[in-house]
Amino acid sequence: MLPGWAIVTPSRREHIERVAELAGRWASELDVPETERRRWLRAVWLHDALRDAPAEELKRWAPDAPGPADLRHGPASAARAKAEGETDRGVLDAVRYHSMGLAEWDMVGRVLYCADFLEPGRNFDKSGRAELAVRFPRDPTGVLREVARARVSRLVQSGWPLPDPTVRFWNSLFSRAGS
Ligand SMILES: [Fe+2]
Ligand SMILES: [Fe+2]
Repeated sequence: MLPGWAIVTPSRREHIERVAELAGRWASELDVPETERRRWLRAVWLHDALRDAPAEELKRWAPDAPGPADLRHGPASAARAKAEGETDRGVLDAVRYHSMGLAEWDMVGRVLYCADFLEPGRNFDKSGRAELAVRFPRDPTGVLREVARARVSRLVQSGWPLPDPTVRFWNSLFSRAGS
């Protein structure tokens, strides 16, 4: 469930619900243990919790976040979640870096990054994204690469310098020979 301190519009809440549904489906198909499923869903409910918060509030929780204002809500939501008692490093890193990527992610960060992008409510490339969503449980690494390709391209097109974590994330996915 969304935390009580979340500041989201109704349509944002619907996006978060669709991400939760997709991550929950993957957890079932992969038959992950209940504790792991709960970690995935905690990250999902937290990731955009401050997405629609006023700029001052985002700045207060994430004063040093690099890049455009859009990239601030992940670090801000993670900082708030930590202040509210979330201690799982994988969950916090998933939330903090969900717009940027992180080379050191465990499965929580990877699932969130992919489900956030592949949930069916987004209006572009519906069929391509739906195929990736179906493929994820049997090929998480391949799908993660495809999602990174799409998401990092968009970041490049925004004209901002790539944040350091994004560069390291990208290189961690594509630096091996033959990949
Ligand atoms: Fe987000
Ligand atoms: Fe999101």
